[in-house]
Amino acid sequence: MTDRIYARIAGTGSYLPAQVLTNEDLAQRVETSDEWIRTRTGIRQRHVAAEGETTVDLAYQASLRALEAAGVQPEEIDLIVLGTTTPDLIFPSSACLLQHRLGANGCPAFDVNAACSGFVYALTVADKFIQSGAAKTVLVVGAETLTRMLDWSDRSTCVLFGDGAGAVVLKADSETGILSTHLHADGGKKELLWNPVGVSAGFKPEEHNAGVRVLMTGNEVFKHAVKALDSVVEETLEANGLDRHEIDWLIPHQANLRIIEATAKRLDMPMERVIVTVDKHGNTSSGSVPLALDEAVRSGKVQRGQLLLLEAFGGGFTWGSALLRY
Ligand code: UT7
Repeated sequence: MTDRIYARIAGTGSYLPAQVLTNEDLAQRVETSDEWIRTRTGIRQRHVAAEGETTVDLAYQASLRALEAAGVQPEEIDLIVLGTTTPDLIFPSSACLLQHRLGANGCPAFDVNAACSGFVYALTVADKFIQSGAAKTVLVVGAETLTRMLDWSDRSTCVLFGDGAGAVVLKADSETGILSTHLHADGGKKELLWNPVGVSAGFKPEEHNAGVRVLMTGNEVFKHAVKALDSVVEETLEANGLDRHEIDWLIPHQANLRIIEATAKRLDMPMERVIVTVDKHGNTSSGSVPLALDEAVRSGKVQRGQLLLLEAFGGGFTWGSALLRY
């Protein structure tokens, strides 16, 4: 045993909005089919936030569940870090709105924008706070309403994304928890996956042939994602002196089943040890890893003491991983 302070997952929670949009529903809107979507992505359905239901609403529900699972009261939280690309407002941050809703007023609260890697980035920040002794009980959230910025006439993007949120409560622990995190970014590829409007650059819909919407060159992103995830997985194993067979569960970003399978293959991991939820909710960006983690925990698959590898890749590009003993 060392003097190191670990950030241990004390509880997980998640939330999906009630409304479900199936592949068949989308086939009524654009030229696509259930078969194409399923075979190319693994997605069967996605959830869509109701009118007026926001990212913070989803984050709040997921956070309540994580706090309950951890047996932690909101006033015990001493930091909130929220990964999102679809905040309720430009400011205040969604983390501040969530903090007030939970009744955790006074603790620091901020958003992290790393697109689909938002949760892994937020988890890393929280881990550093705990390791340094600056925080003891941290709420980490990934929450998105990506469907708010989709072009519903663009079949190359609208079939992929959904809304959802996940959360974890981290507590300082002397025994075990997050073992290492590894983050990367490459801003040179921004145009392969982006939403090109913004406050400072201006809202210029005419330049991009539409309003606020996600644009993606899917097959290029696919190749970059597989390569980056392969490399961050290797980096994580090496940093911890681990053999790939020692990982108990892979909890990947849920964008595309084929990308997930490629990473599993790299780890020589049977799909039975990979958490897959993309079929149920599509790509929920920052929400995806904590949604999968919560499913893994609540289904009883993941047991205390097991070694989990979390990873994500997203717009930016950003990518990263977290290795933890649950
Ligand atoms: O979370 C952030 C990271 N994002 C990702 O990881 C997404 C990465 N990319 C992907 O998941 C995949 O590239 C997609 C699922 C987006 C696309 O799959 P693909 O196998 O790479 O297909 P493609 O883009 O090369 O397109 C193949 C064909 C094209 O038709 P042609 O040119 O071959 O005639 C597309 O126009 O599929 C067509 N297509 C569709 N057909 C039916 C594209 N979207 C659709 C659709 N329904 N929804």
